[in-house]
Amino acid sequence: MEDFFPSKLAIGKQFCNRHKEKELLNKNIMKTRHTVLVSPRRYGKSSLVHHVVSESKLPFASIDLFLAHDDKAIIKRILTGIAEIVSQILPLDQKILQKLQALFSKFRVSLSVSHFLIETTYNISEVDAADQIFSGLLALQELAKAEHKKVIFFIDEFQDIASAESAKSIQGAIRHIAQATSEIIFIFSGSNRHLLLELFDDKSMPLYMLCDKIYLDRMSSESYKSHLQKLAEYKWGSTLSEANFYKIMALTELHPFYVNLLCNRIWENKNPPTEQQIIEAWNQCYEDEKRRLVVELEKLTRNQQEVIKSLAFEPTNELSSQTFIAKTGMASSSILQSTKALFERDMIFKVTFEERALPFFKINQVRVLDPLLAYALRQYG
Ligand SMILES: Nc1ncnc2c1ncn2[C@@H]1O[C@H](COP(=O)(O)OP(=O)(O)O)[C@@H](O)[C@H]1O
Ligand SMILES: [Mg+2]
Repeated sequence: MEDFFPSKLAIGKQFCNRHKEKELLNKNIMKTRHTVLVSPRRYGKSSLVHHVVSESKLPFASIDLFLAHDDKAIIKRILTGIAEIVSQILPLDQKILQKLQALFSKFRVSLSVSHFLIETTYNISEVDAADQIFSGLLALQELAKAEHKKVIFFIDEFQDIASAESAKSIQGAIRHIAQATSEIIFIFSGSNRHLLLELFDDKSMPLYMLCDKIYLDRMSSESYKSHLQKLAEYKWGSTLSEANFYKIMALTELHPFYVNLLCNRIWENKNPPTEQQIIEAWNQCYEDEKRRLVVELEKLTRNQQEVIKSLAFEPTNELSSQTFIAKTGMASSSILQSTKALFERDMIFKVTFEERALPFFKINQVRVLDPLLAYALRQYG
C-alpha cells in the first residue's frame, strides 16, 4: 500500500504546494544566505528543507540537536554532519583519507563502508567545544572551496543548543564561520519557536541578525484541493465531493500534520468516503492520539488548562472581555499571564488569514492551535 500521507517527512508525490516558501529558500541557497525557518511544530519545516535541498542537488547534511543538552553531544552531532557532507564531496578511498586527515588535523578521520567518520581525538571532556566546532567547520569550508562546491548544513531542533555548557561560545563559533563563508549555507529550524527566536532576535546573542527568516503558515484549501483530488483519483478513480473535501479541511483546520493523519485513515477505504466515514476516521485519530494529548495538557498549569478549555469551546477576539472573564472564572491578569505562556508554547494562536474552507476562523481570533486537542477538550466538556 502506498503512503500518500506520511506522518513524517513529505517527499516526492506526498509533498504539496509551498511554492512561495520553496522559492524563498531556493533564492537564499543560491545567494549563500543563511535561513531560519520558523513555524509551530508539524507545519512542514523539515519537509520543506528536504524537498528544496533534494531538488538543489547540493551536498547536504541534516542534523538534529534534539536533547543535545551538553557540549559533548553537540560536538558529536556537528562532526557527524560535517562527515556526511565530506562523504558526498569526495570519493571514499584510502588515498583521499590521508588528504582529509591532513585537512582535519585536529580530528581523527577514518573510513567506513559507506562514509568518512570524523571524531575528536582528545578525551572529549577536556576539549574546548567552540574551538572544535570552529575547526571542524573551517576545514569543511576549505574543502568545499577547494572542490568548488556549495554545501548545505541543516540544523534542526537548534533551540536545544541553549542548555549546553558552552552554548554561547559554540554559537559564536558558528557565527564566525557563517558570516565569512561563501561555501556553507546554514539552515536552522526547531520546534520551539519561542526559544528558537530568542537565539536569533536577541541583540546579546551571537547569532543575532545572521539569518533571513522564513515563516511557514498553514497551506490554503486551494492548494490542498488539487493535491487531495489528484490522490483521490489515483486511489479510487474519482474525486471527493466538494462537501467531503471541505469536511476534511474543517476538521483538520488545514493543520498539515492533521490533514495527513486524517487522510491517511480515509485513504485506507476501498471506496471514496461518505461524510459519516470521515467523521468516524477523525474519531479514530482522536482515540489514537488521546494519550499524547492528555500528556500535553498535563504539562500546563491549572489556569492555562482553564484558558485553553474555554478557547476550545469558544475562540475569542477579546481575551480581556467580560464574557471571557466570566467563562474562565479567572482574574484578567491571570488570563493574560496564562495566554502569554500558551502563545509561547504554541498551544494557541491568533488567526491571521481568511480561508473559505474555515468560515468559523475570524481574523485576530485567538484559537487552540491543535485542532485535535481542541476537539478533545470539547469532548471532555
Ligand atoms: N508540503 C507538504 N505537503 C504535504 N504534507 C506535508 C507538507 N509539509 C508537511 N507535511 C506533513 O505535515 C507533518 C509535519 O511535517 P514536518 O515536515 O515534520 O514538520 P515540522 O518539521 O515543521 O515539524 C508531516 O505529517 C508531513 O508529512
Ligand atoms: Mg521537523
